[in-house]
Amino acid sequence: MNSIIKTESEIEKMRISGKLAAEVLEMIEKHIQPNINTEQINDICHNYITNKQHAKSACLGYKGFPKSICISVNDVVCHGIPNKNQILKEGDIVNVDITIVKNGYHGDVSKMFHVGKTSILSQRLCKVAQESLYKSLFIIKPKIRLNKIGEIIQKNVEKNNFSIVREYCGHGIGLNFHEEPHVLHYKNQENNIILKKGMIFTIEPMINAGNSQVKCLNDGWTVKTKDHSLSAQYEHTVLVTKYGCDILTWQKNEKICKSLVNK
Ligand code: MF3
Ligand code: CO
Ligand code: CO
Repeated sequence: MNSIIKTESEIEKMRISGKLAAEVLEMIEKHIQPNINTEQINDICHNYITNKQHAKSACLGYKGFPKSICISVNDVVCHGIPNKNQILKEGDIVNVDITIVKNGYHGDVSKMFHVGKTSILSQRLCKVAQESLYKSLFIIKPKIRLNKIGEIIQKNVEKNNFSIVREYCGHGIGLNFHEEPHVLHYKNQENNIILKKGMIFTIEPMINAGNSQVKCLNDGWTVKTKDHSLSAQYEHTVLVTKYGCDILTWQKNEKICKSLVNK
C-alpha cells in the first residue's frame, strides 16, 4: 500500500531523489545571469537531469506541462513555463522549481535567484519567504500537528507586511509527485493530522509583496499576482525523524543544518 509513512527502503530512495533535485539548483546558479532566456535554463537543467543524473524530470508532460522545470520571474507566483522570448535582466527575481524522479521516487525543491543587483524590496521578500520556510522546519518533529506549519509561516509573512498565497500548498511526496497530506501555508483547521516519524512532504510557501490574490493565465499554467506585485517562493522536501526533520533537498550553500533536532 502507498502509505504516508515511508519504509526505510523508500526513505533511502527519497534521500537520493532529494539530493539530485538539490544538485540541479546548485548546478544552475552560475547560469542565472542577465541575457540568458528561460528556455536555455530549462534545457541546461533538462540535460543535466537526463544525461548526468540519469534521472527524469517529473514536470515534463505532468498534466500536459510542456517543459522540464518551472521558472517564475518577478510577479509570476509559480508554474512559469520556460520560454525563449523571456530574457532575464538585471533586477529580476527568479524562482526555479525542480522536481525529478529517480528509482520511481520524487524530489521537489525550489529557490529564488537574484539577477545582478535587485531592489531592497525584492531582497526582503525573498529573505522573508526563505525565513518563513526555515521557521516551519524548526518546529517539525513527531507528535506536533501538521497545521502548526501553516500557522508559523503565516505569522512570519504577515509580521513582515507581506501576504501568503492560499491557492497552492505543499504536499506529501514519494512514488507520486503529489500525495497526501496537503500542507497549507496559512492558519487552518483542515489538516490537523499528527506528524509521525517517516512522513515525507514538501513545504513551499509563496508570498506576495502586495495582496494575496492570484490569477492563472490562458496558457493554463502561469500563475501571477493579480495586483502585479512581486512574489517569492522557497521549497524543501522534508522527512520527519525521531527528534526533528531531515531536509532531503538541502543545498551546500544553505545556512541551516541538513538534520534538525527540534526536541
Ligand atoms: N514543482 C511544483 C510543486 O512544487 C509543481 C509543478 S507542476 C508542473 O508542487 F507541472 F508545473 F511542473
Ligand atoms: Co512541491
Ligand atoms: Co516544486
